[in-house]
Amino acid sequence: MRCFLAALALALCFGCSRGKRPAAEPVPDLRLAVVTDLKGYLEPCGCTSNPLGGIDRLAAQVKQLRESGVPVLLLMAGDVFFDTATIEPARVDQAQRNAKTLAGILSSMQVTAVLPGNRDRAQPPATLEGVVARSSFPWLAMNAPSEVWTAEVGGHRVSVIGVRPGATREEVAASVGAAEARADVTVALIDGTRRDANRVGAIPGVDFVVHGGLDQDDAIPPRQVGRAWALHASRQGQGLVVVDVHLRDAGKRFEDRSDWSRSERAAQLDRQIGELAAKIERWEASGSVDEADLDPQRTRLAALREDRALLDAPASQPKGSSFVARLVPLPKKSPRDAEVEKLMREHDKAVNEANRAAFASLKPPPLGPEDVAYVGSAACSGCHQEAYAWWQAHPHGVAYRTLQERNKEYNLDCVGCHVTGYQQPGGSTVTHNLDGALVNVGCESCHGPGGAHTKNPEVAILRDTPESTCVACHNAEHSDLFDYEAYMKTLVVPGHGLPVKTP
Ligand code: HEC
Ligand code: HEC
Ligand code: HEC
Ligand code: HEC
Repeated sequence: MRCFLAALALALCFGCSRGKRPAAEPVPDLRLAVVTDLKGYLEPCGCTSNPLGGIDRLAAQVKQLRESGVPVLLLMAGDVFFDTATIEPARVDQAQRNAKTLAGILSSMQVTAVLPGNRDRAQPPATLEGVVARSSFPWLAMNAPSEVWTAEVGGHRVSVIGVRPGATREEVAASVGAAEARADVTVALIDGTRRDANRVGAIPGVDFVVHGGLDQDDAIPPRQVGRAWALHASRQGQGLVVVDVHLRDAGKRFEDRSDWSRSERAAQLDRQIGELAAKIERWEASGSVDEADLDPQRTRLAALREDRALLDAPASQPKGSSFVARLVPLPKKSPRDAEVEKLMREHDKAVNEANRAAFASLKPPPLGPEDVAYVGSAACSGCHQEAYAWWQAHPHGVAYRTLQERNKEYNLDCVGCHVTGYQQPGGSTVTHNLDGALVNVGCESCHGPGGAHTKNPEVAILRDTPESTCVACHNAEHSDLFDYEAYMKTLVVPGHGLPVKTP
């Protein structure tokens, strides 16, 4: 009965999706779900205007893919667990906890295989052992230049070749050619440059190259490398690339039938056509260019237009094996896996607690003879009431609460920009903040330490904050929309820089 209902639901579901699409795509034989350069990101920091990523969102997508019934291979390449090769001693514990939590979550997502990157490999063996112990999936090519993983998936033989950075062509070719690697689909996982991808893609037998190591935000549509296709899915878990694989003839090159590639190509052609057409028009109008020189340009334009028209023509049936790749970005509104989210929240609490205890006695550098003490924003409130009232209602005045609400106020990746005088002489540390006086982005973040001025207002204090002070916190990674002029407008207001309006 249950089986029947499930089958019915599946049939209905296929029916509805087919109804919406103009031409029904055949069900793929298998799917590759590809993540590159995850770099230990459990989730984005949340500082920017459109945060992308989150391992809970990734998990929800993968679960959904698996529910369709098509076998899914979840593959990761490039740095997976760590984003720096050498971690400063104070951060080692937090980074290890992070990597272990991630390994546990990736195991629950049934990751097929990972090819760890150079930064992962650079960690001390003791660190790696703890993370490997939490991983129920293979870490490829840890002890060899390249390593083959094979499986029978949905009746097809799949071979995944992990390629260690620096492996020679011969070493990789030997793995690809090995008897156990003969397969219907062969996917190489690499951590390297475009040249490395080209090199591995040129090895006979490789169909796809999962290209970790580029460490760039923008995902790249399938790119031809030798007879293979390179796949890249941005970084930090901001998105994943899903490749529907349709198998016909093993050993032949796959045809790319992705809308993603098609629309990229169309945009590129439109650009070229627009530029060339404008040039020709200018030449014609000027009358100074010979017809003999113009003709070849006109022929080129016609050829470009023909290529462009071909892209709009309905696609013919694929002759051999083919694939359709799409990018699945993970914006804030994309669904989250509740179980994974719970693990993340438990992790945040554990890190907070561990750091609070570990750094309980961490004091800021002491004041030198030239240094002025920090006193906190409340010490300014008596004499600058309007400014204080304005600041309390500004995001700067609640920046610490933003972290507390997320159990991240002791997180070493977060606290520095959400408090005042971080690691400055007489300032704050991850645990020490003058009993709460230096939490939030206080007056002294912009005006400098106010100890002397507070005691005696005759002592000057910095009035105008240079842009360099802002961008120490408002950097590209954490404040994508920052614009000094525009942001200053919300600071220079009545009560703070402008006279208070009288009714
Ligand atoms: C005891 C009173 C008092 C306290 C406390 C005090 N100020 Fe002032 N502040 C003054 C006076 C008086 C002036 C000069 C008159 C004016 O321009 O308002 C001044 C001026 C300033 C100016 C303008 C400087 C300029 O060159 O125009 C800034 C900025 C400033 N204070 C910031 C702070 C900050 C930040 C704190 C807390 C760390 C603080 N003040 C604490 C009394 C005080
Ligand atoms: C010590 C770090 C730090 C410094 C220095 C700093 N900011 Fe900020 N700023 C923050 C943080 C953190 C937030 C977000 C607070 C929150 O909402 O939790 C923020 C928020 C803001 C916002 C609100 C943006 C919004 O989305 O509403 C403005 C505007 C702003 N800052 C302008 C400035 C300007 C201009 C300067 C320099 C004059 C500056 N900040 C200096 C950390 C800093
Ligand atoms: C390099 C400095 C920096 C670090 C590190 C940093 N932040 Fe921020 N954060 C900012 C700034 C600046 C803003 C305001 C950005 C803007 O509005 O342009 C901000 C804004 C935010 C906001 C949005 C607040 C709101 O209400 O809109 C959240 C949430 C946040 N940060 C959380 C975090 C967390 C969690 C971490 C650690 C994982 C972190 N931040 C690390 C500088 C930082
Ligand atoms: C994000 C940075 C920032 C923070 C936080 C900040 N200020 Fe300012 N403040 C400025 C800048 C920039 C100016 C100069 C405004 C202008 O150009 O007129 C200024 C101006 C002032 C002035 C001089 C006003 C005038 O009319 O001459 C005072 C006083 C002052 N701030 C006090 C404070 C106090 C008190 C706090 C905390 C309660 C505070 N500020 C928080 C950046 C900041």
